[in-house]
Amino acid sequence: MTSPDPNDTTQGQQAATWQVGGQALTIIADRYELRDRIGQGAAGEVFEAMDTRLGRLVAIKTVPLRATNPEAALRALGEFQHEARAASRLSHPGIVTIHDFGNTDSYAWLVMELVIGENLRNALDSNGAPALAEAVRITRALLDALGYAHGRGLVHRDVKPGNILLSVGIDPGWGQVRLADFGIAHIGVVDAAPDQGPLGSPTVMAPEQVNGAAVDHRADLWAAGVILYELLTGKRPFTGGYPAIFDAILSSEPPPPSTIVPDLPPAFDAVIARALAKRAEDRFPDARAMDAAIALASLSRPASAPALDFEGMLRERLRVRLQALLDTQLEPMVEEAVRGEVRRVVGGG
Ligand SMILES: Nc1ncnc2c1ncn2[C@@H]1O[C@H](COP(=O)(O)OP(=O)(O)OP(=O)(O)O)[C@@H](O)[C@H]1O
Ligand SMILES: [Mg+2]
Repeated sequence: MTSPDPNDTTQGQQAATWQVGGQALTIIADRYELRDRIGQGAAGEVFEAMDTRLGRLVAIKTVPLRATNPEAALRALGEFQHEARAASRLSHPGIVTIHDFGNTDSYAWLVMELVIGENLRNALDSNGAPALAEAVRITRALLDALGYAHGRGLVHRDVKPGNILLSVGIDPGWGQVRLADFGIAHIGVVDAAPDQGPLGSPTVMAPEQVNGAAVDHRADLWAAGVILYELLTGKRPFTGGYPAIFDAILSSEPPPPSTIVPDLPPAFDAVIARALAKRAEDRFPDARAMDAAIALASLSRPASAPALDFEGMLRERLRVRLQALLDTQLEPMVEEAVRGEVRRVVGGG
């Protein structure tokens, strides 16, 4: 594999040769010229590339097709094509755009929008938890993207900090959320031995994923709850190696966030408890409901808060009003209108 020369200031501006699926490659599909390697995941690698036809930079993910079982490889490839096609129909500012995909006998590739920034895993590891307002903003942006995709029948299945890209901009903060790897996260991992446990990223897996049961959009909402927990507290709710982490996911309750961060409004404890309910039917029914609950929690005050100033009084008035609206038993259409009102007043999608 070519190692980039640290003294070469043109690095990233010219084609380079990389090993992909056992071959030395500079160009993919006669069109995408490889440049830098951005990173590596469990199944493949991501490169920065130049789309020589359109003259723009893109990101290209390559996944070696190395299944020892050709039938499984074929099935995985079919699934990859199906999911890539479905994901390519998503058009949302919070979701990484898919431009193109294809495969040879030895690897599959997927071309997507190049995000300049950092993924949330690295951001959390290098910085720790962000300020509360930033934690709330990131989670709500994630839920907005999930709500959009769920509304179109697509479940991500691997919502994790490593798949949340933060696109840097000139605005202060950690950047704009761009969710990557919609539905395609497990392509290539067809050789996993059964004794390695279920496929997925253990720390964010919902109980039904651990159990190998049917999964719907509520597994993504569980993962959003795991991410919110770490954004609020700097700690992961479920830890340990395999299989201890699966026992924790199935049967242990993480400490309420406000016991870790005393300044946190206890309203977040209720949000986390519901997001991480073991049974999917006890969780938020959809991304919008979870978003409204987080918006309301962010309007509430920590137990130790000082006396209300003028702005605090206004926010409290708003919170009480919105809570009363949300607590009312409503017809679905009215409920949707109320949630729309919550979103309008407290911001976000
Ligand atoms: N469109 C993109 N633009 C910029 N960087 C990207 C893009 N897609 C992925 N990356 C980066 O490439 C790296 C590898 O991503 P990849 O999806 O292969 O692995 P992962 O999500 O970290 O882990 P896993 O394979 O376990 O799911 C990550 O650091 C990710 O931030
Ligand atoms: Mg990824």
